[in-house]
Amino acid sequence: MKYENILVDKKEEILWITINRESKLNALNKPTLDELNDAISNAQNDAEIGGIIITGAGEKAFVAGADISEFSSYNNEEGKVLAKQGHDKVFDLIANSPKPVIAAINGFALGGGLELTLACQIRIASENAKLGLPEVTLGLIPGYGGTQRLTQLVGRGKAMEMILTADMINAESALSFGLVNQVVPLVDLLATSEGMMKKILSRSPKAIKAAITAINASLDSSINGFEVEIEEFGNCFGTDDFKEGVAAFLEKRKANFKRD
Ligand code: COA
Repeated sequence: MKYENILVDKKEEILWITINRESKLNALNKPTLDELNDAISNAQNDAEIGGIIITGAGEKAFVAGADISEFSSYNNEEGKVLAKQGHDKVFDLIANSPKPVIAAINGFALGGGLELTLACQIRIASENAKLGLPEVTLGLIPGYGGTQRLTQLVGRGKAMEMILTADMINAESALSFGLVNQVVPLVDLLATSEGMMKKILSRSPKAIKAAITAINASLDSSINGFEVEIEEFGNCFGTDDFKEGVAAFLEKRKANFKRD
């Protein structure tokens, strides 16, 4: 697929995705969601890629939301389809990704933009970032997982406050209640995100995958997360990564895990 709305760059084991609609503050229109789906799906099947970092083009916005101009005349059914397709194509794909996805939030992360970061496993924000879910100002509610993932991440009280007031908050405030993992100067954002990803990628890939599966299970009320943890823990013992990790510890050397 030819990309016109995102830039994709494979460097070592990391796939960098830059949402590239700077003149529209990187708002997510349908073609952008399709391209994200394609790039992320390909990365899942590419044994050379260990993780993905998503950011926005320019210094102003990560993503300023879903593209409002695209859905301005939608009816109820079209609204449902828009949300459902977004969940299936991009947001759930990221949230359930066995390979870690880091959001490098370089400016406005609003509406669907904040929801995109919420689907990622880790969020690192620049000091100038502004985060919010302004949908109620448009007569809408978040439709790409925001009501669920924000609540899971920061609790019902803060989620209610952010969604009902529609207020934008700054990065420091987001850090204070766990909405982002780290805040750094904008010039350091990509290097910090890369550093965090490289550290994760130096760990056992099979254990990383198992950990993501078990942590995500805690969010799914239809399954018993403790049982998933027991199962995943047990399965780790049958992996080459476990043999290598333990051997490296006993031999007092750094583990050398293989990606396959
Ligand atoms: N959808 C479509 N276009 C968007 C957009 C969105 N979510 N967010 C910004 N844009 C476009 C603007 O329409 C403008 O395009 P134009 O130059 O062709 O008119 C361009 O991006 C720049 O935005 P602008 O509003 O002029 O920048 P600003 O610095 O004055 O304001 C924001 C920045 C983020 C506060 C403002 O753009 C905004 O409120 N955006 C919408 C946020 C939102 O409600 N998101 C949730 C959608 S569900």
